[in-house]
Amino acid sequence: MKDFSENRYDKMKYRRCCKSGVLLPSISLGLWHNFGEIDSFENAEKMLCYAFDNGITHFDLANNYGPPYGSAESTFGKVFKKDFVAHRNELFISSKAGYDMWSGPYGNWGSRKYMMNSLDDSLRRMNLDYVDLFYSHRYDPNTPLEETMQALVDIVRRGKALYIGISRYPKDAAAFAFKYLKERDVPCLIYQGRLNIFDREPENEILDLCMNSGVGFIGFTPLAQGLLTDKYLNGIPQNSRMSREHFLKSSCLTGKVLSKIKGLNNIALKRNQSLAQMSISWILNHKQVTSVIVGASSIKQLADNIKALKNSEFSIEELELINKYI
Ligand SMILES: NC(=O)c1ccc[n+]([C@@H]2O[C@H](COP(=O)([O-])OP(=O)(O)OC[C@H]3O[C@@H](n4cnc5c(N)ncnc54)[C@H](OP(=O)(O)O)[C@@H]3O)[C@@H](O)[C@H]2O)c1
Repeated sequence: MKDFSENRYDKMKYRRCCKSGVLLPSISLGLWHNFGEIDSFENAEKMLCYAFDNGITHFDLANNYGPPYGSAESTFGKVFKKDFVAHRNELFISSKAGYDMWSGPYGNWGSRKYMMNSLDDSLRRMNLDYVDLFYSHRYDPNTPLEETMQALVDIVRRGKALYIGISRYPKDAAAFAFKYLKERDVPCLIYQGRLNIFDREPENEILDLCMNSGVGFIGFTPLAQGLLTDKYLNGIPQNSRMSREHFLKSSCLTGKVLSKIKGLNNIALKRNQSLAQMSISWILNHKQVTSVIVGASSIKQLADNIKALKNSEFSIEELELINKYI
């Protein structure tokens, strides 16, 4: 069992998840990439322990994170057993179901059958009795929303999740879900959406809907998968996400995008921040945001990202300047 530093909670800032009793770290760690079976277990363990040692109490997973599917949860489960068992009550662990997971008609989307079976598998892989937060990972237009929502309600009633959330739901479906859940006394804790300097869709309606409904907002992909860092300023490094040409394609790095990144990098430098830090601070500058889920492939990146908390204020001029590079 690891010894974690006693002052770990002094190193992080915590934010209340809207009107709930839950405080989340301003920066959470996501296990979408770099925690699969194909990745180094030692590096994954080091990042998880470093995160917790720096006050990151929230780890965000999903059934299909890997590759292969399920393996990020298995990696987490191994680390949990080895390093975190004594700290279960200090951790806030989420998982999700909603995307392709197993073959046949019951391994995808939003049926009660899929949601319930998937969570049972996730708990087994993660060596957990319950998750703190379970999400419907995406809106399913072909399943009655009542069915998906009732599955979430029953998951909480059965003690398999303490809270529930939804991810990437369109506004009207989100509003329906919030109402349905509230009426059954299992209010939606949080909405997970993609928000970063380049992707601002939640700013249109979702952030306000969440706040007015008493639901928190947690932003994912804050660094646009690495674009909003200094990583690609001088080409595409080996072993970077873009070099793998899967989720982040090199065709994204057009001359126009590169000149935006350079412009943003200059603003960050003037603020004495790395571009990654400024990008995270920019999201946290939204009052509706509870937490930002970062991804990382090394402790060095994670350390860089956590330092964002040292400078989270923006002048109006800085915000206007940043807006020129959307
Ligand atoms: N709900 C959903 O549908 C959904 C969708 C996507 C993500 N998520 C959640 O959000 C989490 C984060 O997503 P993401 O991994 O796309 O986030 P991200 O933070 O935008 O990108 C992470 C990547 O950026 C690079 N990076 C991170 N810090 C850096 C730094 N300081 N300097 C230079 N490069 C840096 C690394 O790329 P390299 O690997 O190239 O080093 C890292 O893997 C996921 O793990 C998941 O939990 C949820």
